[in-house]
Amino acid sequence: MKVLGIETSCDETSASIVEGDGDRASIRSLVILSQDVHRIFGGVVPEIASRAHLTALVPVVRQALDDASLALADVDAIAVTNAPGLVGALLVGVSFAKALAFALDVPVIGVHHMEGHLFAASLEVEDAVPPFTALLVSGGHTMLVDVPQWGVYQVLGRTRDDAAGEAFDKVGKLLGLPYPGGPEVERLAATAGEPAVRYSPPMLRRDQQPGTSEYYDMSFSGLKTAVLNSVREKTANGRTLSDDERSDLARAFQDALVGTLTGKTERAVKAFGRTRVVIAGGVAANRALGDSLRRRFAATGVSVMAPSNRLSTDNAAMIARAGLYRLGRGERSGFDLTAYSAQPLPGATHA
Ligand code: KG4
Ligand code: ZN
Repeated sequence: MKVLGIETSCDETSASIVEGDGDRASIRSLVILSQDVHRIFGGVVPEIASRAHLTALVPVVRQALDDASLALADVDAIAVTNAPGLVGALLVGVSFAKALAFALDVPVIGVHHMEGHLFAASLEVEDAVPPFTALLVSGGHTMLVDVPQWGVYQVLGRTRDDAAGEAFDKVGKLLGLPYPGGPEVERLAATAGEPAVRYSPPMLRRDQQPGTSEYYDMSFSGLKTAVLNSVREKTANGRTLSDDERSDLARAFQDALVGTLTGKTERAVKAFGRTRVVIAGGVAANRALGDSLRRRFAATGVSVMAPSNRLSTDNAAMIARAGLYRLGRGERSGFDLTAYSAQPLPGATHA
C-alpha cells in the first residue's frame, strides 16, 4: 500500500510517500519545505504559516510524487496531521487531503502529530518498535510514555510548563541566536569547555517517590528564568556577553535540561523493565541528549534509538507511517475530519 502523508501543523510544509503495511514500511520520497519567513519574527506567526502552506502544498505534493516516480492515481490512501498544532495551518493540510481523497476515491485518515513522532525512528531503525520507553520532546510537547505496543500509550509524565524545544528556543533568543534556537544552542554549547556556571537539573530530586506526579513530570520554565538571571547579572553594567560567556550559558542550560530528561527516562525504563528507549520530536536531533542517554544505559544493554535529524523534526513520512498503522487496523476518517489545536494522543492512558 502506498500512502501519501501530509504535514502542515506548524512551519514545515511536508509531503511523503511511504509504502508498506501495518508492520513494515519504507520511505519512497520525502519533501520538507521549512518556512524561513518566521525567522524575521523570532517565532512562528500562525497566519503567515497558514498562507505559506497554502502556497507551498500543491508543489510539495507534486515533488513528493515525482521523487517516488508515481502519479496521483498510484496513491492508495492519504494520511494527514489533524491535531495538535496551529488550527489554521492544520486546516490547510486537512482540507487538501480530504479534497484529494474525494477526487481519487481513496481513504483518508487523520493522524495525531505526536503519534507520528513516535513512529519516526521505526522508519530508519528496525528495532525501534514496541515495547519501548518513549521520550517525546518537541517544540510544543514533552512527554515520557511507556509503549507496550503500537496504539497503546501510557503517559507517565509531561512538562508542567515549557516544552523542552520551547525552552531551547527561548534560551536561544536570550543568547541572541536566530529561531529556532535548539540547533543553535546545541552548536554554541559544543564550543564550551567545562562551564563556569551550573544549573541543577529541574524537577529531578532523589527523594521523589514513584506514584507521585513529580516522579516523572518535568518543568523547564524555571531553568529558562535562571539563564535569564545569569544574562542580566553579567550584563548589569551595560556590557554585552562575551563569546565564552554565551557558550558557557548554552552548555550549562543544555546540561541541566538533558540531566532531567535522562534521569526521568531512566526511572521509566527501570519501572517497566524496558530494553529500548526511543527519542522522538525535534529535540531528538540533539546529540548531547542522545549521548547522555546512551552513556547512562551503556552498562545495562538498554538500546537508545533516535531518528536522523530529518525525521526528528516535523516531516510527513512519520505521518504517513502512523497513518499506515491506523489504516492497517481498518480505521478511516470521514469527510467530516477537522483540525484540533489540542487533542490527547489516541490510545493514551495516564499513570
Ligand atoms: O518536532 P518539531 O519539529 O516541531 C514540533 O512538533 O514542535 O520540534 C521543533 C523543536 C524546536 O523547538 C527546535 O528548537 C527543537 O525542536 N530542536 C532542537 C534541535 N533541533 C530542533 N532542540 C535541541 N537541539 C537540536 N539539535
Ligand atoms: Zn513535531
